[in-house]
Amino acid sequence: MKSRAYLLASVLLLVTAALASHKNKKLAEPKTFAEKEEIAVEMKKIARQLDVRCEYCHSDAERGLKEGDYTLLTREGEYSHETMFPISEKYKVECSYCHSGNDFTAAGERSHRDMKFMRKYKREKRKTLTCGSCHVPGEAGAEFQKFTAFAKRSGYR
Ligand code: HEC
Ligand code: HEC
Ligand code: HEC
Repeated sequence: MKSRAYLLASVLLLVTAALASHKNKKLAEPKTFAEKEEIAVEMKKIARQLDVRCEYCHSDAERGLKEGDYTLLTREGEYSHETMFPISEKYKVECSYCHSGNDFTAAGERSHRDMKFMRKYKREKRKTLTCGSCHVPGEAGAEFQKFTAFAKRSGYR
């Protein structure tokens, strides 16, 4: 468990650094090839967990790591950046906790159901829920098993 948590922390550190550079794209120095190679090691693990190629998220990946601009993201890349990386970071899980290639794991199915509920709630009650409206981040391994008062009150199962 410990080493898995450590691995995730280091992935997220790299990704957070990447995200910071994305936000300040105009100001930040472009990554050196060595820096890109280091990030690519972690990215390969993510790509394997989802069973996709770099091109799935990076629209300029065809030109290769040396020439390509990996700050250019596809729709799926943006979604990963905005939604998926933050969930993984907050709840200390890797992509493979929910994704098994093209399929969802049991946890992924459950998350999917909860996301649909969140969309429905927004439509009907005009209120935006987040995962944190119901789940309290905890130890790796028990990430989604602590609940807020709202979760109990909502009666949602
Ligand atoms: C599921 C989506 C996804 C896949 C697949 C993926 N990446 Fe990424 N990658 C991202 C996101 C999101 C970032 C953060 C980009 C940002 O916002 O700065 C990133 C950042 C990077 C960066 C740093 C970019 C920079 O210059 O700041 C490199 C290099 C990179 N990825 C390489 C790869 C390689 C190589 C592969 C294939 C082995 C790959 N990625 C697969 C989503 C993905
Ligand atoms: C807690 C569960 C969970 C984790 C962890 C998770 N995902 Fe997801 N992911 C989902 C669910 C559920 C969906 C479907 C979302 C929807 O219906 O809006 C999804 C959708 C996506 C999509 C969009 C797919 C499409 O067809 O548009 C991408 C890309 C993705 N995830 C990448 C990632 C990456 C990369 C990671 C790891 C950094 C990750 N996910 C971690 C549950 C998860
Ligand atoms: C309205 C409340 C609510 C929201 C919002 C919500 N969940 Fe849940 N979630 C639940 C409930 C209730 C359970 C089921 C707990 C049980 O009975 O085991 C659950 C279970 C889960 C589980 C299974 C945990 C396990 O160990 O089996 C995962 C994973 C999960 N949710 C992920 C998410 C993610 C990711 C989000 C945000 C995208 C989210 N949930 C948003 C209420 C919510």
